[in-house]
Amino acid sequence: MTQVTLHHLSKRYDQQHHAVRDLTLALAPGRVTALLGPSGCGKTTTLKMIAGLLPPTAGDIQFDGQSVLSVPAEQRGAVMVFQNHLLFPYLSVGENVGFGLKMRGQAQAVIRQRVAEMLALVRLPGYEARRPHQLSGGQAQRVALARALVVQPRLLLLDEPLSNLDAHLREEMRQLIREIQQALGITIIFVTHDQEEAVILADEIALLFEGQLHQFGPPHRFYEQPANERVARFFGSRNLIPGRKQGERVSTALGEFQVAASPLPDGPVLLTFRPESAALHPTRPPADAANTIRVHVTGCVYAGTHTRWQLIPAGLHAPRLNLHAVSDPRLGAWLREGDNATLYLPPENIWLLPAQQDA
Ligand SMILES: Nc1ncnc2c1ncn2[C@@H]1O[C@H](COP(=O)(O)OP(=O)(O)OP(=O)(O)O)[C@@H](O)[C@H]1O
Ligand SMILES: [Mg+2]
Repeated sequence: MTQVTLHHLSKRYDQQHHAVRDLTLALAPGRVTALLGPSGCGKTTTLKMIAGLLPPTAGDIQFDGQSVLSVPAEQRGAVMVFQNHLLFPYLSVGENVGFGLKMRGQAQAVIRQRVAEMLALVRLPGYEARRPHQLSGGQAQRVALARALVVQPRLLLLDEPLSNLDAHLREEMRQLIREIQQALGITIIFVTHDQEEAVILADEIALLFEGQLHQFGPPHRFYEQPANERVARFFGSRNLIPGRKQGERVSTALGEFQVAASPLPDGPVLLTFRPESAALHPTRPPADAANTIRVHVTGCVYAGTHTRWQLIPAGLHAPRLNLHAVSDPRLGAWLREGDNATLYLPPENIWLLPAQQDA
């Protein structure tokens, strides 16, 4: 199992801007890490630098504490599977998978055996004689995976491994990646711009915007404790209420809220909560109720397992503030568009963000 550490890693393709800027990360060995972020944020660039396919402009990359900057790609023990999996079209599936071993001068019998093992691992046993054009997209992706794994890498780097697949194949590939990780115990880093994918598949997520790391940690933190407004928005938070923090209280245009202890200093903050962590009641709150907002229902969508609510604070004048809540699906029998209701925010479900958006 390989521990990958990035130290102040930067990449500039030109003088004007950084593709990756001062990235410092310690990735857990034998785990699955997602590099997540919107298009152009530097994910592929980072992966290529780890693989040894692109030299960094500054910083260091270490495998198990040893710098690998001077180690050529083919000796790093890291294999990268590209966004558009490129199989050699004129070779059979078996020859594609065995290619890396043949290059290393392995005996035919060994190659045949390892190729069969790898094809079994990616659930394509007996596909040796097929040609790439006779494969479906999902099968070709799995052959590319088998070809990468056949050389027994210490590190598997996957660039958008699921992006060209339909929902069903995605699920299958996800399971496969998990199985491979468990069967071979290797460290896997995969790139995605899809936050749901990162959450389902990764043990830890590194979220990048414009080449800079904004948050690193296990998936649940990105929902429960986003580092800043941008992270919160990327993970679908739409409840953002400006306020002023003083100790464990925050005063806002919607009233005062009791909050859990926050590491942020007193002063301007953004108060946020998940739609599913607030409680919506069709009744008026008792006069002394704390942490409640009187709201007006502007929209309501029944989604089978739950109902989604769009709300605005009742009696609050411009600027308009939209709030979102999720409730038991049956609340729709008691409450509808145009009604007023009460939204209760438990202090422990409120999270505070720095007030101004990070650059
Ligand atoms: N060879 C290159 N020369 C100049 N600029 C480049 C080069 N490759 C990438 N870039 C720029 O570097 C930035 C990061 O690119 P990168 O390919 O790492 O993004 P990405 O996060 O993988 O995006 P996507 O999700 O679209 O694949 C982008 O602004 C891109 O235009
Ligand atoms: Mg990319």
